[in-house]
Amino acid sequence: MKVLVVGGGGREHALGWKLAQSTLVDELFFAPGNAGTELIGENIPINAEDVEGIIKFAKNVDLVVVGPENPLAIGMINELPPGKGFGPTREATNIESDKAFAKEVMKKVNVPTARFKIFTNYGLAKSYLETINYPQVIKASGLAAGKGSFVVKTKEQALEVLHDLMVNRTLGDAGSKVVIEEYLEGEEVSLLVFVDGKDLAPLIPSQDHKQIYDGDKGPNTGGMGAYAPVPFLDKDEIENILERIFNPTIWQLKREGVIYRGVLYAGLMLTDEGPKVLEFNARFGDPETQAILPLLGSDLIELILATIDGELANVRLKWQPGTAVCVVLASKGYPGKYEKGKEIVGLDDVKNVIVFHAGTRREDDRIVTAGGRVLNTKDTV
Ligand code: AMP
Ligand code: GLY
Repeated sequence: MKVLVVGGGGREHALGWKLAQSTLVDELFFAPGNAGTELIGENIPINAEDVEGIIKFAKNVDLVVVGPENPLAIGMINELPPGKGFGPTREATNIESDKAFAKEVMKKVNVPTARFKIFTNYGLAKSYLETINYPQVIKASGLAAGKGSFVVKTKEQALEVLHDLMVNRTLGDAGSKVVIEEYLEGEEVSLLVFVDGKDLAPLIPSQDHKQIYDGDKGPNTGGMGAYAPVPFLDKDEIENILERIFNPTIWQLKREGVIYRGVLYAGLMLTDEGPKVLEFNARFGDPETQAILPLLGSDLIELILATIDGELANVRLKWQPGTAVCVVLASKGYPGKYEKGKEIVGLDDVKNVIVFHAGTRREDDRIVTAGGRVLNTKDTV
């Protein structure tokens, strides 16, 4: 098969790295890829969000695997010929791209999640913040590259965040609707599950670390590192999460006319009252994927094809023993402002770890930084 991976981050390098191991894959393309993906396939200079460009190029390949949320949210899968694209449709991606919608879906079928209120009116949201106890969490309802959720410890902080989102529009349209929700305590877990419209195949649970700086002292990022599997979630608990959280959500979507096919990722808080959903994502996690896929013993392409064809019921995933840890190397200043174009040296000297590239670019024979999260190193213990 000829396969196109859409995206250019660490997740897409890891997806390509795993796909390249399959005997079913002859040729790999990345759009746009990075300096790491060009070592295992061909980079095509098409932006991941250029739906028209991708659809045109897709005529040359058998399968298109879409990594990031933005192309899914603008309907790339809807535009591809049926069965050619891996990922949910625009309507199904709403579970990630519209947090308010996701909360309403969960509420209808009693999926455990933080208690919440939704606001599109600044004045009403402000009055609400005047009356409640803290801490709380304020979330931009739209897509914000993992930077749209704010844990607020005081009323003053909350009012400032709300003003930034709804009046200053710091996240643009993403913040025109906000979800204000109860603060939950516990361990966080990411559970990524292949969903073929009816059946489920869970990947091993992982844990992302979203705050920057040692000791979680900084703001939330897209994710600074991850490990898998987590030691505190056993098979029965995963089964329970599939029953209580994934199945009702997928069935409610179906009731609303939306078939979910692809990877559904739940960010969960393991609270004293049991697991509760923090958010859903409509895709593989980044950097969770970089820690999970190196432990996957099964052929990724077979899983993807089974998901597209509705045949997950016949699939059993195989895993290698051990634990994998992914550490993100970021540009100075990330998740705020940072410089690009800095040379990266020493990549050839790295031993016994896999280096997945994220924000990197080749400039002649040099590799330079081209984003906030730059490299993901993965070690297995
Ligand atoms: P989200 O964008 O919804 O995944 O939120 C980003 C991060 O904010 C999560 O990984 C949590 O660390 C934190 N967070 C989100 N919602 C809550 C909540 N209700 N209670 C506590 N922490 C939260
Ligand atoms: N690791 C967080 C995310 O992929 O959204």
